[in-house]
Amino acid sequence: MLDYDPFSDAVMRDPWPAYARLRREAPVFYLEKYDTWFLSRFEDIWWSTTRDVFTAERGVTPEMVLLKAEPPPDPVFSMLDLPRQRDYRRMLAPPYSRGAVGRREESTRARVRRLLRPLAERGHFDVYRELATPLAVEEIAELIGLPAEEAPEMRAQVARFFAREPGQVGTTPENEEERVRLLTRVAEIVAERAGSGDLSGDDHISVMLRTPAEGEPLSIGAVVAAVFTMLVTGSEVLPLSLANTVYYLWRHPDQRRALVDRSEDVRHAYAESLRYDQPTNLLGRFVKEPVEIRGEKLQPGQGVMFLWASGNRDESEFERADVFDISRRPRRTLSFGHGAHKCIGEHLSWLQGRVLLEEILTLAPEYEVDRPGARRAYSEFLHGYVGMPIEFEPL
Ligand code: HEM
Repeated sequence: MLDYDPFSDAVMRDPWPAYARLRREAPVFYLEKYDTWFLSRFEDIWWSTTRDVFTAERGVTPEMVLLKAEPPPDPVFSMLDLPRQRDYRRMLAPPYSRGAVGRREESTRARVRRLLRPLAERGHFDVYRELATPLAVEEIAELIGLPAEEAPEMRAQVARFFAREPGQVGTTPENEEERVRLLTRVAEIVAERAGSGDLSGDDHISVMLRTPAEGEPLSIGAVVAAVFTMLVTGSEVLPLSLANTVYYLWRHPDQRRALVDRSEDVRHAYAESLRYDQPTNLLGRFVKEPVEIRGEKLQPGQGVMFLWASGNRDESEFERADVFDISRRPRRTLSFGHGAHKCIGEHLSWLQGRVLLEEILTLAPEYEVDRPGARRAYSEFLHGYVGMPIEFEPL
């Protein structure tokens, strides 16, 4: 009998053995405790993300789908179905297009170099905490239109909201307090901006305050909810993915060496790390209309979780799926999702991930990871390294 539970200590620490068994023995797995189905095979997840028999409107996070936490009362595009989602997402999408992100390369590289300068002299630093996190926070704060000086504390509040202790299932009152404090401050900033009379900027807050959706102006609550979503997604996942990549390249020195000679492959190395150890482990939907997958009948009102990280290790999609190999050129992956909710920040992540790696490999091609300091996140949702100290010859 399979005893998979996404909140179990074993799965929070190391989900891969459970995912392999699920794919093999029960690819459409039901857990009565959460009244939810778990899809672990690539093809099933790929297919499901484009079917309107599922809805995002009752929530998408493990907290909402499994523990039935209420989704936010105001509409946020990550929790809306088509066609409603379109208006809200369209408002924020322009700076994340391939072209717009391409124009950021110079400023992103300048930021990375500025952050690296004092670290390079030291000869050791934490890639997650001292390099990737500040970069992601600075860039997303600028895109959202949050005061730069407050952004680091806001990011810390997000981290404290997601922090989990062993044995913890879902959000504690302490986690929740951090979220409320953050939302309160964001609401003040949004209200001040709304009252300022100048909404001409390209930042998300200005755009949302001046653009109607579904024929109506957005409420302050809807703007705050979108800001929260962008802050969380824009600052949490890139640092995990970069720390993971640095770790796996260190574990495979031959592949890292090949990269130093062929810098055009840096992007593929980042892509392989996203496939091999996907930071956004699982997200879900609710069933809206009866649907059958592999003979299992999913009923309206039940939850369904997409185990992205498992799909990305599916042997029927990827040869030697459990091997980290930067020479892969996969036709498709689930790293940024699929369908209407496919990641809005995909191109930004490609840019930030590639530039960060290029600059690290230029500075310290032979870096060593301080293994005892490399620490993994403990969470049902976000996986990957949240501590990644490296050492190298100081400049
Ligand atoms: C390596 C980094 C990242 C990974 C692996 C990642 C992964 C994902 C995945 C798997 C989804 C699909 C969610 C679903 O279908 O329910 C998603 C959606 C989303 N991502 Fe990312 N993401 C990354 C970076 C970012 C960044 C930098 C931003 C912000 C700038 C961002 C913003 C979003 C948003 C807002 C959504 C929801 C889109 C919608 O519902 O229409 N992500 N991401």
